[in-house]
Amino acid sequence: MSTAEAQNENTEFVDFWNEILVPKFTKYRHILVGGLTHHSEKIFPTLEVKEGDKVVDVGCGFGDTAIAFGKIVGDEGSVLAIDCCDAFLEYGREDAKAVGVKNVTFIEADVQSYPFEADNDFCFSRFGTQFFENPVAGLRAMRSSLKPGGIMTMIVWRTIDDNPWLGMPKDVVLNILPPPGEDGRTCGPGPFSMASQEMVTKQLEIAGYADIKFERVDAPLMVGNTLEDAVNFQIALGPAGEVYREAGDLAIKKHDEIDAALKAELKKHETPDGVFLDSSSWVISARNPG
Ligand SMILES: C[S@@+](CC[C@H](N)C(=O)[O-])C[C@H]1O[C@@H](n2cnc3c(N)ncnc32)[C@H](O)[C@@H]1O
Repeated sequence: MSTAEAQNENTEFVDFWNEILVPKFTKYRHILVGGLTHHSEKIFPTLEVKEGDKVVDVGCGFGDTAIAFGKIVGDEGSVLAIDCCDAFLEYGREDAKAVGVKNVTFIEADVQSYPFEADNDFCFSRFGTQFFENPVAGLRAMRSSLKPGGIMTMIVWRTIDDNPWLGMPKDVVLNILPPPGEDGRTCGPGPFSMASQEMVTKQLEIAGYADIKFERVDAPLMVGNTLEDAVNFQIALGPAGEVYREAGDLAIKKHDEIDAALKAELKKHETPDGVFLDSSSWVISARNPG
């Protein structure tokens, strides 16, 4: 039995990730992993992780960052890679095996209630913490994984206005479809839930962290290999995809109109290497004072 089954208390959001988002994330893995990497590769060389360290990667998804940490910490170190979707972790396990990385353990669990050992040097998350149903509980659990003095670094999106790769397509679709209702199914608080420096600082303080620092990272993001890929990605995922999904039959009826409107806007950002739009994140670091 997996850890998640043992906990036997999947939240509505965890179920949503497994049922709705896993197939879509898997289909658009090339955009998600390729794009999100721009926000981690800039900071990876500056992270306080060294050979022999023990690292936790929270909401690790397909596991590319966990494998990168596995290479940094080497045979004397180890990485615990946690995600609530085992289907993502299977990719991580296979990729780690393919590149001969043996020190990463992939575990299916809800991070918010995971009983961590407090023996890690570093805890990381690239775009995973924004989906915690209870952010303070999740951040506290992450802190509980750290030795005194250990560092937590998480990457989260800044506001939707700072992220036209998600905001612009949402506006296009909202010109045609109504906004999602209050009772729509979602993946959790959502990609922009940690955009406010003030609020996240409070959450981190309540969760017991010290020395909280924010660093802004801007990067162009490839949202599709081709115009068609970009349109289909937006209809499937993110805020535009949410509007589309929640509109149900109306979206299907208006599909061609939505497709044409998205194509017209996204075409403006087409290059020979794919469709590119701007994105912006916070890299937030804090210390476990012990
Ligand atoms: C946007 S994806 C980021 C994945 C990966 N870190 C990356 O950058 O490619 C968010 C990830 O967080 C995971 N996740 C969301 N809520 C979680 C929770 N409560 N516990 C564990 N994982 C969670 C999702 O399954 C998903 O893989």
